[in-house]
Amino acid sequence: MTPIEENLHHYFQLKTLTQRFLTFPLALAFVWRAELPSAAQAPTRSPGLDEFRKYALTHEGDVARGAKLFADEQKLACAKCHSVDGRASKAGPDLFAVGDKFGRRDLVDAVLMPSAVISPGYGTVIVETKAGVEYQGILKQATAAGVQLMGADGKLVFIATTDVKEQRGSTVSLMPEGLQAGLSLQEFTDLTEYLTTLQQPESALVSNHGMPGVIPQLVKPVTVRPFFSEPLRLPQGKVQTGLTAFHQVPGLSNVFLVLHQKGMIWRMEKTAASEEKTVFADLTGEVFYERGPNGLLDLAFHPKFRTNRKYYLKYQVFEEGKVATIIVEKTFAADFKGDSGQPARRILKIVSVAEDHSGGCLQFGPDGFLYIVMGDTGPHNDPNGHAQNLQLLLGKLMRIDVDRTEGDLAYAIPADNPFRARADARPEIWAYGFRNPWRFSFDRVTGDLWLADVGQDRVEEVDLVHRGENYGWNVYEGFEPFSNQYRKDGRYFTPPVFAYKRKYGNSVTGGCVYRGDKQSSFYGVYLCGDYTSKRIFGLTQENGTLKTVRQIGSIPQGLVSFGTDEAGHIYAVGYEGMIYQLDFTAARFDDIKSD
Ligand code: HEC
Repeated sequence: MTPIEENLHHYFQLKTLTQRFLTFPLALAFVWRAELPSAAQAPTRSPGLDEFRKYALTHEGDVARGAKLFADEQKLACAKCHSVDGRASKAGPDLFAVGDKFGRRDLVDAVLMPSAVISPGYGTVIVETKAGVEYQGILKQATAAGVQLMGADGKLVFIATTDVKEQRGSTVSLMPEGLQAGLSLQEFTDLTEYLTTLQQPESALVSNHGMPGVIPQLVKPVTVRPFFSEPLRLPQGKVQTGLTAFHQVPGLSNVFLVLHQKGMIWRMEKTAASEEKTVFADLTGEVFYERGPNGLLDLAFHPKFRTNRKYYLKYQVFEEGKVATIIVEKTFAADFKGDSGQPARRILKIVSVAEDHSGGCLQFGPDGFLYIVMGDTGPHNDPNGHAQNLQLLLGKLMRIDVDRTEGDLAYAIPADNPFRARADARPEIWAYGFRNPWRFSFDRVTGDLWLADVGQDRVEEVDLVHRGENYGWNVYEGFEPFSNQYRKDGRYFTPPVFAYKRKYGNSVTGGCVYRGDKQSSFYGVYLCGDYTSKRIFGLTQENGTLKTVRQIGSIPQGLVSFGTDEAGHIYAVGYEGMIYQLDFTAARFDDIKSD
């Protein structure tokens, strides 16, 4: 799940949901739902949602009875769509760790209002064929030949590309509403109780040093302060939230650019006495953001920015019926106050297969080359093995030279790129085996490349990336074996430095190594966080092995990105519009709570 995927939550307001629902041909939805128990079968009036919620939040349930209800396909159908063994073999998400992922209240809501929050990667896809047939289901496979959907009945259908008229996403969950209708309040509470017990076993986790069972907290957390007085929001747009990145403009210590997913870039000038917000560039007409983890994702300044004023953007576009990720080169105006308005130079275009997992970051390395990450683009499980396939740029970290061109390319391949000489690999690749690498950064002192890769159902991971190495997906997820389908003989996999399980969050956001105050106990500590749990972690490593990790604090909003400035301050970007500055002075990295 990328942060953006997670953020699709915000689109799924119930209002739009009913509106959209009415536009669907109801016939098919009816067919797929016909086998499920319906409210009509309930003998008496069923309690309202609020009654179920209130009861389940104030009463204890019986786990064994809940487990029985869950498994009873005649009564509830949960097991028709959900596995609980970690295999993710059915239409809905595997629930083996759902009790780690959600608290009781969210579990209750997930069952009572399935469409209020759609689990990332499990949105309903609607495919309309040229023959006029419409299919709804969860995307299980997408190739050039066609797509495969799993319907609510658990059956797979394949629709050939040549037969597809239109494919679109839906805001209505495949999980039916009203499943609780046949249950008593106590039965619903039993079911809830059972869901809370679905947690990742500790035993498998403590065995690995890089994935500690418990991450200690600081006695005094790092102080987090709003950097701008107000949240940054689109004026009247539908999407009110959606910040993605924050950068100081090189050489201008009090000027910052803030990116919004929808394509807006603001220029913020901040002094002790004032804050000035202006539109730096408005790309909302060009950026594709509506569906999936898309939009304007990141910005990087050229190493010689002060003289050539060049900067680079990574965002999604919708072209020729497909979502693609593009990298463009643009220039600042001579006064550094806005974009120059000159046409962008397109550097790279990578077409998505299933629109998920587009990675999220681009940065110049200390070597002057541009590094770009790309996710496997989905669907779940990376069923086509994109991340292990060296002939594709999907699931890769790339490294290119934007100052020269080569052949037909808008860039050149650096001479020491690891796969440059190989006929069976893309020469742009620097490292591979990533699922959805959302953020990476270079340690400004050591040059170490830290990357955080968003996991699927089990764990989130942080990698120290080296030239040519394979970080495992989809053979491994974190430290754990995932699938042998695309395992190739003779391939070595580099394990993460750090991984964490659902108890600590669902979507890792990579940060940077703190290089502000040399006297600080945080000097040299790598910071990262989690979008959904909003926690900030600090960690140190030695030879790629975790030394220490702590929870050092948290922010009030979805932690979508980190930023830094030339002085070495660290900022945390809240998806809902706030930028926070971290203050380390009152905290100590080695001072941990003893419990
Ligand atoms: C027709 C298939 C179907 C049935 C039946 C069904 N679900 Fe779901 N469920 C889904 C899908 C698809 C999702 C993901 C989309 C979403 O979040 O709504 C989901 C999501 C969930 C989630 C959130 C999981 C996450 O990781 O975000 C929970 C919890 C859940 N279901 C529990 C249940 C329970 C309990 C039942 C039985 C009462 C049930 N489901 C019945 C298909 C189904």
